[in-house]
Amino acid sequence: MEKKTLSPKLATIPMPAAVISVGVEEDANLITLAYVGKVCLNPPIIAISIQPKRYSYQLIEKYGEFVINYPTVNQLRETDYCGTRSGRDVNKWKELHLTKEKASIVKVPMVKEFPWNMECKVIKKLELGSHVCYFGEVVATHCNSELIKDDNIDPEQISTFAYISGNYIPLEQKIIGKHGFSLK
Ligand SMILES: Cc1cc2nc3c(=O)[nH]c(=O)nc-3n(C[C@H](O)[C@H](O)[C@H](O)COP(=O)(O)O)c2cc1C
Repeated sequence: MEKKTLSPKLATIPMPAAVISVGVEEDANLITLAYVGKVCLNPPIIAISIQPKRYSYQLIEKYGEFVINYPTVNQLRETDYCGTRSGRDVNKWKELHLTKEKASIVKVPMVKEFPWNMECKVIKKLELGSHVCYFGEVVATHCNSELIKDDNIDPEQISTFAYISGNYIPLEQKIIGKHGFSLK
């Protein structure tokens, strides 16, 4: 099959769409990010990238902490809402009836209604161009108990979705292979 060369700016596939909390108390805001990825196991570090024009940029700069909240397919509207309105204009928590849940280590609140939350402290940042990349050390992870299997997320229980070229795509809750199956 012939291959065509496309723009180097195109995204990796799939990308996540996670809702990130930034800021504390009355300042707390929510922003949806696709530029989110684990980049180190030990210490556990996740990189996120934010454009400086976002309201959330000022808040991550001010407090140096964030929480990654992963939605289920039932929270798709909340996810899109947090990525299409600015905290400068609306209180996303109030508009979406989301509850601030106290985190165990950071001061930034978690989203209570979202089943998977990762508390992060910024340890480094890189000004890359359109986006500033923040490296957050994960200091605590929380998960709804019914979604846990063997001390980890149960991939067959969480109904989640990916973000591919501007579209939200549900992930089938079915394991099609386990890490290392090709060795057998
Ligand atoms: C699915 C999705 C993914 C997004 N990913 C990013 C991202 O990785 N980085 C970024 O700066 N903005 C991203 N955005 C845009 C921001 O979420 C959006 O501009 C938001 O309204 C900013 O909110 P704020 O002004 O309250 O910070 C994304 C939006 C959506 C809907």
